[in-house]
Amino acid sequence: MESTAGIRRIAINTGGGDAPGLNAVIRAATLTAIENGWEVLGLRRGYMGLLHDEVDGEPGIVHLCAERVKGITHLGGTILGTTARGNLFGLEVRQSDGTWGQNDPSDEIIERFGALGIDALIAIGGDGSLKIAHRLFLKGLRVVGVPKTIDNDLGATDMTFGFQTAVDVATEAIGRLHSTAEAHQRVMVVQVMGRHTGWIALESGLAGGADVILVPEIPYSVERIAAKIAEREAARRRFSIIVVAEGARAAGGAPSYVRGTARYGGIAERLAAEIEDLTGKETRPLTLGHIQRGGTPVPYDRNLALRFGAAAVHAVELGNFGCMVGLQGQAVRSIPLGEALSEIKRVPVDGELVRTARRLGVSFGD
Ligand code: F6P
Repeated sequence: MESTAGIRRIAINTGGGDAPGLNAVIRAATLTAIENGWEVLGLRRGYMGLLHDEVDGEPGIVHLCAERVKGITHLGGTILGTTARGNLFGLEVRQSDGTWGQNDPSDEIIERFGALGIDALIAIGGDGSLKIAHRLFLKGLRVVGVPKTIDNDLGATDMTFGFQTAVDVATEAIGRLHSTAEAHQRVMVVQVMGRHTGWIALESGLAGGADVILVPEIPYSVERIAAKIAEREAARRRFSIIVVAEGARAAGGAPSYVRGTARYGGIAERLAAEIEDLTGKETRPLTLGHIQRGGTPVPYDRNLALRFGAAAVHAVELGNFGCMVGLQGQAVRSIPLGEALSEIKRVPVDGELVRTARRLGVSFGD
């Protein structure tokens, strides 16, 4: 283990899509580092603040002192801003001759850290941002990662902050839809986030009393969904609530993308039309979208984020570089980034949660 007695200055950045709890991580990491006698710099919008003196008309680097992180634990978003501009190592840039080429600013980033006397970086991000952090670590940067995604799909941590908030928002929406669906005897199709995994759909659907839950891990058949709706009709339950993860797909089919992009989207509309055609029942789609990511984090997410922030500073103290912090059981541990990023955590199709839902009569459309 490397000695870190010499740490004097660290930097923190946030990358990728935001998740409720980012500010709590920033606050805990900053205050813990200040306790250690370290100076803390915040990099605006990922690495942009490091590469540019000004970002959006503000200095690229913010000095994080106790005053600056006061009263932010409960705030959504990130005081440092973020960017999800894709792969840092292959940024598309316009060349002087007008053609597009790829730029790799990683050497410049490493040099900038050296020039600014930054001894270590705490990188808060999802799968993509942590892969970048790992590559910078392999190039010599002393990095500790903090995992973030509302999808809760990172293999090495039992929980990511932001997830419980997203489940809370989705569950509330599903609950509200019940009365209007019942009043109009409609089918409501609610699309929640979850590109590769169905954790938000499963947990909010189960808690919210959905009749059908569709997740990427279990390909569905629209006929099976229609059969579930018919079964409810026969039992005089003349409305149905369907929760669908944005990355769900029909058996033998492809996921639904926003036209002309690689972004998931449109499954609720598509499915609602198919269900209406098949059942003759009025069916309405609803996409919850970024409302699941915005606003104040629930207490669980605040506490997990605070723990992660403090643990990240502790990992720097111990010289556990090239690692990320993660929750395993009740404990926050350091996990090597290479190992942590090797697997995504999918909903186990025969797991206890899915089995419980099935026993309660929930259909997965299979
Ligand atoms: O990774 C989290 C996530 O919320 C996904 O579920 C979703 O597809 C994505 O971010 C959308 O992010 P954005 O619209 O900001 O690109």
